[in-house]
Amino acid sequence: MALIAPSILAADFACLGDELRAITAAGADMIHIDVMDGHFVPNITIGPPVIKALRRHSTLPFDVHLMIAQPDGYIEDFADAGAQIITVQVEACTHLHRTIQLIRKVNCQPAVALNPATPLESIRYVLEEVNMVLLMTVNPGFGGQEFIRGVLPKIRQLRKMIDSAGLQVKIQTDGGVNDDTIGLIARDGGEVFVAGTAIFGQDDYARAIARLRQLIEAARKQEKEPKKPDPPQE
Ligand code: DX5
Ligand code: ZN
Repeated sequence: MALIAPSILAADFACLGDELRAITAAGADMIHIDVMDGHFVPNITIGPPVIKALRRHSTLPFDVHLMIAQPDGYIEDFADAGAQIITVQVEACTHLHRTIQLIRKVNCQPAVALNPATPLESIRYVLEEVNMVLLMTVNPGFGGQEFIRGVLPKIRQLRKMIDSAGLQVKIQTDGGVNDDTIGLIARDGGEVFVAGTAIFGQDDYARAIARLRQLIEAARKQEKEPKKPDPPQE
């Protein structure tokens, strides 16, 4: 099943509680929360106290994407604040396996994120320890950036890696996901779609989410249809 995870980075930070209620009513599947520390990425956003305050405004799972250096010391704080899924960037973890165990220990689902330039090999040996892999389709740090098409083959490769190992790990993509790109991702095996600008940038959130779902379905259907043979050459 395709899951839509609106990123509140593109919401109105002056009224996040209202935004969370609106996006929940609009049919989102989970709430994607971007945490940035000004070290791992050149931007700073929010931390556990804000997430804790937001918890009572939605019943949906909180998908907390940590774009912070050395996250181990903060995992418990994010779990206490109300996270269900905690995603760490592979590049920020010296002992990735240990960090994943730490996330499990606090009863959250572990996920690992890879920057566009980071090879899939970096997660091969932890793949069965995680619930989800997040492939960044922009360089992390900001919303509203352009989708990097070079990541599409990586999505296909990860799909193969997961399927051939017989695992149920979900593939999530984040960055530049919109009406023009979501079909490409769905076709190549993406399942959890983070979208900030493409949803919060619209007036009607429910309509924006429904449209994204339609495009995913259309792309998957097209992928299943038998390919037409090439026309004979003149
Ligand atoms: C970028 C964040 C994304 C961001 C996506 O570093 O991880 O979650 O909000 O924003 P859009 O969908 O606008 O590209
Ligand atoms: Zn994110």
